[in-house]
Amino acid sequence: MYRVVEIEEVRDEAKDVKTFFFRDTSNPQPGQFYMIWIPQVDEFPMSISYIGELKGFTVKKIGKGTTKMHSLQKGDKLWLRGPYGKGFKIEEGKALVVGGGTGMATLAPLAEMLGNKDIIIAAKSEDEIIFRNRFKENVFFATDDGSLGFKGFATKLAERMIEEDDYKIIYTCGPEMMIRKMVDIAKERKIKIQASLERYMKCGIGICDSCTINGYRVCVDGPVFSEEILFSMDDLGRRWRAKSGKSISKEENHDIGEKSQ
Ligand SMILES: Cc1cc2nc3c(=O)[nH]c(=O)nc-3n(C[C@H](O)[C@H](O)[C@H](O)COP(=O)(O)OP(=O)(O)OC[C@H]3O[C@@H](n4cnc5c(N)ncnc54)[C@H](O)[C@@H]3O)c2cc1C
Ligand code: FES
Repeated sequence: MYRVVEIEEVRDEAKDVKTFFFRDTSNPQPGQFYMIWIPQVDEFPMSISYIGELKGFTVKKIGKGTTKMHSLQKGDKLWLRGPYGKGFKIEEGKALVVGGGTGMATLAPLAEMLGNKDIIIAAKSEDEIIFRNRFKENVFFATDDGSLGFKGFATKLAERMIEEDDYKIIYTCGPEMMIRKMVDIAKERKIKIQASLERYMKCGIGICDSCTINGYRVCVDGPVFSEEILFSMDDLGRRWRAKSGKSISKEENHDIGEKSQ
């Protein structure tokens, strides 16, 4: 079930974020993810951030699995299964791409395919911005502390841009509170939206139920969802499942919730 791939290049992207390039015969769509297994350490889900002959995962160092991954170098191996899940669907008309933190890793291959688009790349501060030079045109930066580009949340900048342009579709990924806000904006303004969601995943293939949100399994029904589901997803930004599977609220969520502010 697993394929073994060799890391061909490791690139520093931002503080605690690296991209690992490898060759693989699979043919992923933007928004799909793989399960990466590092033997004797952990297995975890990761979006594809570069599509082509040389593929990539752009990984933020968070816990034990991703910390181990950050210690790997050219020539080291990864065990993969996937690609899994439903990716982004390209819609007609001008697109607004809104990526927060490593959420931009999920969106980047899609953004490269889109014709008419504006891209917002956001992070807490400049040193956490990824892919600063990946896109040559129509890129806008937002940082919470104002160290690069617009000072403030990506959602504030997005609202301003939406007021001035006729976007037909929003694509977003990032901290869950950012996604929640983008979904609310899209609903209010009657704009289509697709968002890639993150939930704690164990099997990645629809068996264990650890990744459910409002009855949808993020690993097989998503991770990318469209407005017809997102607009009625009450738990988005409000409830998660802990590693144990227990449903927890934002207030109780000291784990995924912390990443989601
Ligand atoms: C579909 C999908 C795509 C993702 N794409 C990316 C990406 O492109 N780049 C990136 O840096 N991160 C991505 N992530 C998040 C990444 O999976 C977690 O950061 C990683 O699993 C943490 O593993 P760890 O062993 O280092 O952390 P742990 O020591 O296991 O835990 C540290 C933190 O990570 C969270 N976490 C742990 N395991 C998972 C899991 N299986 N699913 C979700 N959250 C988890 C925990 O709740 C905790 O907050 C994605 C997650 C999903 C679900
Ligand atoms: S991760 Fe097991 S059902 Fe989604």
